[in-house]
Amino acid sequence: MKQAQLGDLQVGRLGLGAMGMSAAYSIGGFDDAESIRTVHRAIDLGVTLIDTAEVYGPFVNEELLARALEGRRDQVVLATKFGLISHTGRDGLDSSPASIRTAVDGSLKRLETDHIDLYYQHRLDRGTPIEDTVGALAELIAAGKIRHIGLSEVGVDTIRRAHAVHPIAAVQSEYSLWTRDQEAEILPVLRELGIGFVPYSPLGRGFLTGSIRSNAELPDTDYRKSNPRFFDGNFEHNLRSADELRAISDEVGATPAQVALAWLLAKGPDIVPIPGTKRVARLEENVGADAVELSPEQLARLDGLTPAVGGHHAEAQMAWIDR
Ligand SMILES: NC(=O)c1ccc[n+]([C@@H]2O[C@H](COP(=O)([O-])OP(=O)(O)OC[C@H]3O[C@@H](n4cnc5c(N)ncnc54)[C@H](OP(=O)(O)O)[C@@H]3O)[C@@H](O)[C@H]2O)c1
Repeated sequence: MKQAQLGDLQVGRLGLGAMGMSAAYSIGGFDDAESIRTVHRAIDLGVTLIDTAEVYGPFVNEELLARALEGRRDQVVLATKFGLISHTGRDGLDSSPASIRTAVDGSLKRLETDHIDLYYQHRLDRGTPIEDTVGALAELIAAGKIRHIGLSEVGVDTIRRAHAVHPIAAVQSEYSLWTRDQEAEILPVLRELGIGFVPYSPLGRGFLTGSIRSNAELPDTDYRKSNPRFFDGNFEHNLRSADELRAISDEVGATPAQVALAWLLAKGPDIVPIPGTKRVARLEENVGADAVELSPEQLARLDGLTPAVGGHHAEAQMAWIDR
């Protein structure tokens, strides 16, 4: 696998998102044994960046990864996140230094490791100055508990303020063929500062792969039921972009998932998508994107796909996004 750079952290340019192994996407249920095989296959194929969070489950996704990484911990760059769960008794987001100090010890214990390679704030806590949050994280680096700092769904002002306190290795936010709002302002600032970018939900939560053709396929427990892009009306409109992607993929001779990922990879060597899957066959398919080359004409057509309708999160969660 070709390599990419997140600040001074080198990783395989395709990572693996582990969230769906324990939470959020319930089509087909959860199968820990297949999830563990998926992590092992990923490592065999050169994936190094593995992404989780304390809130996935909550907690059980980190525990699952500990089982999957037994004897292989040194082969991966392990990323987890704090901030959606308060450890100080507050309601809502909590990135106070006291909450972070408790959160990190919990993640280390569940992950059965002595350090986290990349530790992200999951969402900006408007009640805690970002300088205080990053200051606490810098102390964790000094203590050897974490190696690099990341932020998620933050705006330009927060990125600059945070980076002034301690270098930020990566920003992780939603970015895909149907969520493009990182392009205008965020990516140029990250490049100016030498910060890498990790697109989450790079397959549009599975939608872009064309594998979900009707929102009636989603069980009530599936997170996507509450995502406006999957609502009646929006879903049918959005099928146009999945169909356009399929037509281009047929020409390329690759699958829609591979072309969606190759389009992101073509944006630069500082971009590391983390497609999520809990199945070996899909992991193998997704890693195949490393070998897909798109022509300038194909990239331009992909840039011009019919835009999605509907917010990329439910309204309450959109309010947590810092712009
Ligand atoms: N920072 C944040 O706030 C944030 C938010 C969301 C996600 N994330 C991270 O980003 C990772 C990836 O995002 P995501 O999981 O939300 O969305 P995604 O990667 O866009 O899509 C995942 C979905 O697509 C399906 N899928 C994967 N490969 C496929 C293929 N080749 N063909 C057909 N379907 C395929 C998966 O199903 P199966 O699993 O059944 O294969 C799953 O339902 C997460 O795992 C998580 O670690 C972070």
